[in-house]
Amino acid sequence: MRVVHNVAELRIAVKAMREEGLRIGFVPTMGFLHEGHGSLIRQCKSRCDATVVSIFLNPTQFGPNEDLSKYPQDLEADQSLCLKLGVNLLFLPTVAEMYPSAFQTFIEPGPVAEPLCGKYRPGHFRGVATVVAKLFNMVQPDLAFFGQKDLQQTVVIKRMVKDLNLPVDIAVVPTLREPDGLALSSRNVYLSPDERKRALCISLGLFAAEAAFLAGDRDIASLLTHATECLWGVDEIQYCELVDAQSLEPLVGQVDRAAAICVAAYVGSTRLIDNILLNPN
Ligand code: PAF
Repeated sequence: MRVVHNVAELRIAVKAMREEGLRIGFVPTMGFLHEGHGSLIRQCKSRCDATVVSIFLNPTQFGPNEDLSKYPQDLEADQSLCLKLGVNLLFLPTVAEMYPSAFQTFIEPGPVAEPLCGKYRPGHFRGVATVVAKLFNMVQPDLAFFGQKDLQQTVVIKRMVKDLNLPVDIAVVPTLREPDGLALSSRNVYLSPDERKRALCISLGLFAAEAAFLAGDRDIASLLTHATECLWGVDEIQYCELVDAQSLEPLVGQVDRAAAICVAAYVGSTRLIDNILLNPN
């Protein structure tokens, strides 16, 4: 595994891969890798000839009162996992490399970035879209991999790729879960044992709604009741909404198209998100 720290080295390494005619896959991450990232890397390995992973804790996607300064990091473990999984090229840029002092150009996502997390994390998707566009320009991958847990992120990125004609395909990989159902997240490490138990109610609610949906229930109010009834364990619900899976607009009445139930909630001081897809066809 080759490890590079700046864009110049990255470009030389990527150029060599291109000259060999390799199909390049890319997994952007913020580090503290877990099996969820592992599954993105495995998918990338199986669908591409060369796998590039980036680890960059992107400051522009964190609000002033968010967890940037305490976001978990373990570069040594991350590098071992990448090596074990057969990553070919690991990109570890610094903040100064990604955002030199004169940096001033951002990507402003449209309405898909406004509901759900966009409402509670102003500027978050502007930071995500900007760093992902920069990384795409640096790596120039054929295919890039993102997790379904961050559903709104995948919608924002797909929209950006289409709107800006970026020459990359986007693959969305299903959410990986603990055996009891909790969605894997780097932020799970913040949870105390009691909070970890209570956090489970988020996925249990989503599974209850999914079970009702699979049994034929298409009534949105009823499905949302299943999801929210279980949310007794959290300390604050930011949202629990049933939305169109493509536009993220809230749906009313009956589920008549691909939809998702999306949840964001605080357990203690940890903000967790999760979602489940509902496809009526
Ligand atoms: O999902 C993440 O880890 C981040 O939002 C991403 C896509 C790496 C951009 O910083």
